[in-house]
Amino acid sequence: MNSCRYGKHMMMDDPFNVLRPRTVTVRVSAKVNLALGVGSLELDGFHPLATVFEAIGIHDEVTLTRRDDNRITLTVAGEDADQIPTDETNLAWRAVELVREEFDMEWGECNRGVDIHIDKSIPIAGGMAGGSADAAGALLAAAALCRLPECPENLHPLAAQLGSDVPFCLMGGVALGRGRGDRLAPVICRGRHHWVIATSKQGLSTPAVYHRFDQMGGNPGGESVPNTLIAALTRGDLDAVAATMSNDLQAPALDLRPELGEVLAVGQHAGALTGLVSGSGPTCAFLVRDIVGAKKVSAAVSSLPQVDRTRTAFGPVAGAQVLPGPEGSFA
Ligand code: C5P
Repeated sequence: MNSCRYGKHMMMDDPFNVLRPRTVTVRVSAKVNLALGVGSLELDGFHPLATVFEAIGIHDEVTLTRRDDNRITLTVAGEDADQIPTDETNLAWRAVELVREEFDMEWGECNRGVDIHIDKSIPIAGGMAGGSADAAGALLAAAALCRLPECPENLHPLAAQLGSDVPFCLMGGVALGRGRGDRLAPVICRGRHHWVIATSKQGLSTPAVYHRFDQMGGNPGGESVPNTLIAALTRGDLDAVAATMSNDLQAPALDLRPELGEVLAVGQHAGALTGLVSGSGPTCAFLVRDIVGAKKVSAAVSSLPQVDRTRTAFGPVAGAQVLPGPEGSFA
């Protein structure tokens, strides 16, 4: 009988191996923050947050395929793929390593290598959690390769280790996030939201935006979101949602990148119900009434020189989901 060694364990031929899929693809969604309340800098170097996340229909797909050796590889296709790291600094790579370490036995093969492929549509470095979404996708796909129960709650502690936005990217929908945004509670949201997303030609560093927030006086106790927003979401009152959306990082982002102010003004002049910098920016997100409104705002904003491109999307949508496939089909 064949045997092989990996980690601490001596494995005999694994009778369950045949049941494990060889390839799994997971679809993940971008997020916008409907509200972001930021408190004062703490000793750990982070700011406490309260935020309302919404998952929207701009998706990456993360595919994991088992290899016949022990290597991990990572490839990326899609827009701006050349700007994404393809080594162990990519959060998706770290997610696979984490699942292999945590579920050593369940992984269950002599050869423990994986090819990771990411098909990107979520704007990179734009405050839409693109890297976190890929980590959430890799986490769920790696769990599915092990045939672990596909319950996002079970993966939540691992997700939180990878990054503050990763738990929400697993969960999707609309949720209130506290702490660093990783302590989540779902929020009831009635109706559908139409969004126009305007990406920027020039990036904006998240630490720099937080630093400018501190320089501008911070906001002790500011880690809260308006109750009126939660109530408006629950009622499905779109105008009240628009009226109560807010982002404490918008002022420092505009201070660092004043030209984003024009993007917000042009979008609102073209009929958006409201427009906000998304997270730490520089992406701007406009809430619009319907598809006709989305087209008008998109046309107006995309003509600005500081805008890279616009996309339309609706939300809320699901979090990370395994896609049916020829192998590893969970349908
Ligand atoms: O979460 P992320 O890794 O993008 O954070 C990058 C940096 O942004 C942190 O190192 C910290 O300087 C700042 N940050 C913060 N408070 C948060 C999140 C990020 O000060 N809640």
